[in-house]
Amino acid sequence: MSATTSVHDFTVVSNEPVAEGLMRIVLSSPELAASLEAGQFVNIHVPGDASQILRIPLSFSHADAQAGTVEIVYAVVGDGTRRLSAMAVGESSTAVGPCGNPWPLVEGARRACVVAGGVGVTPVVACARMLEHAGVAFDAVVGAQTAGKLWGAEVLQGLGAKTVAVTTDDGTAGRKGFTTDALSELLDSNTYDVVYTCGPEVMMAGVARLCREAGVSCRVSMERMMCCGFGACGTCNVAMADGTYKSCCKDGPVFDAEEVAW
Ligand SMILES: Cc1cc2nc3c(=O)[nH]c(=O)nc-3n(C[C@H](O)[C@H](O)[C@H](O)COP(=O)(O)OP(=O)(O)OC[C@H]3O[C@@H](n4cnc5c(N)ncnc54)[C@H](O)[C@@H]3O)c2cc1C
Ligand code: FES
Repeated sequence: MSATTSVHDFTVVSNEPVAEGLMRIVLSSPELAASLEAGQFVNIHVPGDASQILRIPLSFSHADAQAGTVEIVYAVVGDGTRRLSAMAVGESSTAVGPCGNPWPLVEGARRACVVAGGVGVTPVVACARMLEHAGVAFDAVVGAQTAGKLWGAEVLQGLGAKTVAVTTDDGTAGRKGFTTDALSELLDSNTYDVVYTCGPEVMMAGVARLCREAGVSCRVSMERMMCCGFGACGTCNVAMADGTYKSCCKDGPVFDAEEVAW
């Protein structure tokens, strides 16, 4: 059962660029690190602007219970993430977590594929760690707009991915094209029990379609603008295929792709 969501203090251990527009921050927060499951997220208060009261929801790539640290790879896109990128080693703040539901391990699964687009790679790396730990063999597809923005392929290789297919929109690394092109080929030549994916919504819709056509179960990690992060404000609705809505923060962020109205 998931740990109770609560507010945790953290201190910045490191905060460095890993690719163009992408930073990797490591937080020291032992209780938080011990409570997180792959696929969940944390809601971070970034100090530096008293007018900005909203926290920033971020997935993590590694929650290391032994070291008491949480690693997050994030894109610098606006004011909050810019202030986060300026947090210095030793600086402190708070994070709410664990938030949301983890990636599920599909019962009896022996072979999986993980598909990451852009900064969606963060929870996908956490998923790969979960699969490695559970002894589920996996392949990986990692895509970015261009070589300079790519992160995670080597990490996924190091975690034991059998095949790591890299794609870039402009062909500057790996094959030129989209992650869905590479996944389509992998689905043709492999039998997967489940596919896990996070990235731009249009990409996840494509992954979901390919998996449906191949008869493979697919889990997606969705993103929405979030105000509270724990199911109280109703800002993060995700439309479901049956016409209802679910909250991304509390019911998600991980959904069965078949549930979602793409
Ligand atoms: C569950 C969850 C997990 C996430 N995990 C990660 C992660 O691991 N790494 C990462 O880089 N980002 C992640 N995000 C997205 C991250 O929360 C946003 O990039 C961040 O809140 C932007 O804040 P800002 O103040 O810098 O930008 P803002 O000034 O708030 O926005 C800048 C731009 O980003 C868009 N934006 C803001 N928030 C979101 C959002 N939640 N989803 C989509 N677009 C948004 C805005 O529309 C605007 O175009 C996650 C979001 C959610 C909901
Ligand atoms: S962010 Fe408030 S309900 Fe999801």
